[in-house]
Amino acid sequence: MRISIIGSGYVGLIIGACLAKLGNKVILIDLDEKKIDAINSGVSTLYEEGLDELLSRTHVEASSDYQKIMNSKIVFLCVGTHSDKDNSISLEYLIQATEQVSRVLRDKKDYYVVTIKSTVAPGTTEGRIIPILQRWGRKVGKDFGVCMSPEFLREGKAVYDFMHPDRVVIGEYDSKSGDVLYSLFQNFNAPILRTNLRTAEMVKLASNAFLANKVSFINEIGNICKRLGIDTHEVAKGMGFDNRIGGKYLEAGIGFGGSCLPKDLKMLIAKAKQIGYEPKILEEVSNLNEKQALKPVELLKKYVSIKNATIGILGLAFKPGTDDVRGSRAIEIVEVLLGEGATIKAYDPLAMENFRKLYPYIKYVSKEEVLNCDAILIITEWEEFNGLDYTGKIVIDGRRIIKAEEARIYERVC
Ligand code: UDX
Repeated sequence: MRISIIGSGYVGLIIGACLAKLGNKVILIDLDEKKIDAINSGVSTLYEEGLDELLSRTHVEASSDYQKIMNSKIVFLCVGTHSDKDNSISLEYLIQATEQVSRVLRDKKDYYVVTIKSTVAPGTTEGRIIPILQRWGRKVGKDFGVCMSPEFLREGKAVYDFMHPDRVVIGEYDSKSGDVLYSLFQNFNAPILRTNLRTAEMVKLASNAFLANKVSFINEIGNICKRLGIDTHEVAKGMGFDNRIGGKYLEAGIGFGGSCLPKDLKMLIAKAKQIGYEPKILEEVSNLNEKQALKPVELLKKYVSIKNATIGILGLAFKPGTDDVRGSRAIEIVEVLLGEGATIKAYDPLAMENFRKLYPYIKYVSKEEVLNCDAILIITEWEEFNGLDYTGKIVIDGRRIIKAEEARIYERVC
């Protein structure tokens, strides 16, 4: 099938490369010429497990020319949606991309399906996207179809997650639209839920809100356990044997970051308030997560006067296995430490260059140099941190690096 994908970021590039691997003819449309050149030379612009190999073995064309989508059967919209100041969603890029698609396809003779993959609030596809697609007199349901099919890709594991989905959700304007998308995913070994557009939009937001809720839940339990001298990890292990709870997503620590969970949770909260509902549980999930980020600094103050101290940070990425620092807990922590007069030396195996763009004035050093600081904060649980010698050090662990327990002073956030 001939497919075009608008947006070649964390979602678009992965989906494009995987669909190409499955035998589809894929064209990626982006505005970033550097990204386009990299993709056309078979190199990925992102750090994703298996992506380099995938791109070196499959042909994915990239271009900035929207005319190239003319003979696509499906057009995926995968552009970023980010939080506005009031935490509602900014549709700026999605609207721009939709307007371009609408303009280019106004003369397309054969039937095609526009599919939204970007995360949007319930009602967006019907209320904002379809009107733009009909702007040039084309009629949805007659001239073209519309679907909303959310992605559930974890950064760092996105290729695996695309190829091995737990489920495929197809929100469809009508069954003709859904049939086209279904033909693309029917051979996946996963249940396919065919539903309406706004239900599909909500499945995505509710799924991420639930994941955020599970993290804040175990962190609430962890904060209680810490006061009781109980190992939260052991409690989580005991809980996880219950198949209604499950063992995943019960790692207590400094909370969730990334470009999705915080944003999607806030988007759902904003949508609920917009329709006059107070989402108290969701708000508390977010509030607890905000407070959890700074617990390492509170603990650090028990042992070190921060002003003029040199603090080492192990881990800058928002989680291990990625170079992405968007929503990293290290951001709030570095802000507070700098504000209180500390000198910071930081190490991360992948994310230092991305973090340096945000904080060019802190020192980026080897992990050995971090260990020579007055105190060490562990922010990201990279496995290699279990290979360091913490003897005689002061360590505040925001995640759970067992080897660090040998430190002279060791405290875990929870
Ligand atoms: C998430 C969802 O998992 C994915 O399905 C969705 O499509 C996009 O958002 P991602 O943002 O890549 O994926 O990160 P994820 O692996 O889910 O972790 C999110 C954050 O939660 C990280 O900061 C991680 O450190 C934290 N986390 C996760 C915990 O603190 N404890 C846990 O048990 C799990």
